[in-house]
Amino acid sequence: MLKAKMCGIIGYVGEKEANDILIAGLERLEYRGYDSAGIAVTHNNTISINKSEGRVHNLKKEKLDGTIGIGHTRWATHGPPSNKNAHPFTCNEKKFVVVHNGIIENYLELKSGLHRSGISCTSDTDSEVIVHLIAQAYGGNLKEAVCKVIKHLQGSYALCVMHKDTHELVGARNGSPLLIGIGKGENFFASDASAIIDYTKDVIYMNDFQIAEIGKNLVTVFDFDGVEQSHEIKKIDWNLEQAQKSGYKHFMLKEIFEQPSVAQESLKVTFAIRKDFSRIIFVACGTASYAGLVGKYIIEKIAKIPVVNEIASEFRYKECLISEKDLVIAISQSGETADTLAAVRLARQKGARTLGLINVVDSTIAREVDSVVYTRAGPEIGVASTKAFISQLVMLYKFAFHLTENGMSNDIVDKIKETLKLSESIRKLAEQYYTCQNFLYIGRNIHFPLALEGALKLKEISYIHAEAYPAGELKHGPIALVCTEMPTIAICPQDSVYEKTYSNIEEIKARNGKVITIATEGDERIRNVSNDIIYVPKVDDIFYPFVIAVVLQLFAYHIADLRDCDVDKPRNLAKSVTVE
Ligand code: AGP
Ligand code: GLU
Repeated sequence: MLKAKMCGIIGYVGEKEANDILIAGLERLEYRGYDSAGIAVTHNNTISINKSEGRVHNLKKEKLDGTIGIGHTRWATHGPPSNKNAHPFTCNEKKFVVVHNGIIENYLELKSGLHRSGISCTSDTDSEVIVHLIAQAYGGNLKEAVCKVIKHLQGSYALCVMHKDTHELVGARNGSPLLIGIGKGENFFASDASAIIDYTKDVIYMNDFQIAEIGKNLVTVFDFDGVEQSHEIKKIDWNLEQAQKSGYKHFMLKEIFEQPSVAQESLKVTFAIRKDFSRIIFVACGTASYAGLVGKYIIEKIAKIPVVNEIASEFRYKECLISEKDLVIAISQSGETADTLAAVRLARQKGARTLGLINVVDSTIAREVDSVVYTRAGPEIGVASTKAFISQLVMLYKFAFHLTENGMSNDIVDKIKETLKLSESIRKLAEQYYTCQNFLYIGRNIHFPLALEGALKLKEISYIHAEAYPAGELKHGPIALVCTEMPTIAICPQDSVYEKTYSNIEEIKARNGKVITIATEGDERIRNVSNDIIYVPKVDDIFYPFVIAVVLQLFAYHIADLRDCDVDKPRNLAKSVTVE
């Protein structure tokens, strides 16, 4: 299972100059994040560091000597993109240096502990605490020091550590990807194979809770107790592009399959918002706005607080009746969407408190709202938003439960994993429908925003016309469209609105409409009114959006792929719409 991708790590130990190998490898990993970049190389028992905010090519202004080094290209989660927050991080005596991918959840507690021992961090990041802890724990063996320190780390990490005097690198993995590249007289660490396939196609994919020690002719893998483990060397038969997609045909498909770990990471986020508002207003665009509409249903149901879901481009030009008693929440993956930014500025002018639910750290909207909670989707490369949507949903559910001071017990991560197994059967279904020119999507209650999102996914990557309606609305006009050439995707799990939606499906069938129903596994009765059925795992009613979203993403993906569309970069679209 792919882990949520954030940042890129590389390590090299061998006979060649490390500088160019590290920089070239980081350039291959930039698709994973490019807020800042840095390398560290040890030579004559001295560590030199070259790091800079922005892109990897900024590192080319300098050349470091040495044949052992590590590198990092950052996707910021804690601490804005800047030179001081760029990895690698070194300890005060510059004996150790570390690069880290992931999130150290307990970094503030660790930072206070270091401060009490007289060690201060120089950056705002979570990662920096690791190198100081290793310096404290070091007793002459780097691998043992890392073993000691990782027992204190909570969260996700792939990290790579180097000591100024040794000729080995140590790597550890728990929750973020890390592999070992096996060369001749040289070995590598890397976040994924794209960084090293020019040098070797022999790799060891490290597992969670493993540590590895590599030298130019040494590769040893241990468990977190330092007990040596056997390892399997695999041969990569990918080209560069496939390696960056970890073998998936498109980034979008890779990101759909990252959703279990994205949901897992997102569930760790907590809210600390003062509840002194009487109404919530969501402002967002596109998929983010559909997440907001799910949020409306959920918050009103769970927290009984009125919610208005505003399309940002409309909100900013209509009579804006908001006040300081409102909490305006901007939902945005990029944090740069012009309409959403304008809506935030208008809300602030009107005296409302603003909160951002943003995926990109330190983006414009993140910097302009009163407070921000970052989603944990990692960099989303596909223009069509998938894992960011799931992360937004998780946060909105967490927020709803936060408002009632209840925890959010659920098994959505496992249910999302289960739903992903439907991909092949959904592809077979898509083979029957990919030539259609029009689709209807219908859903009631919390499934209406899902119908909107499903229709948008199909439109934006397959260029097929698709419209979404509240299922109850069909009879008020749209049912005139129903015909055999225009299939309907009906979202009809066994929940409180099942019977009503069932009747709407019957209305379509009575007019020779074809219906593909998304239903709860085990529901035999739905067969009576469906041409085709996609069964999703049974979940508590309020959690159906998580598994239904995955089905809708996969259906749109396979239809678009069968139509040979440019799934990751659809025509006319941009990943971030920074124009009005
Ligand atoms: C989603 O698949 C689309 N690419 C688009 O609707 C997107 O959700 C919208 O432009 C909002 O972007 P944001 O989340 O970065 O603000
Ligand atoms: N959490 C660390 C930071 O913000 C690492 C992020 C990453 O994986 O790039 O620097």
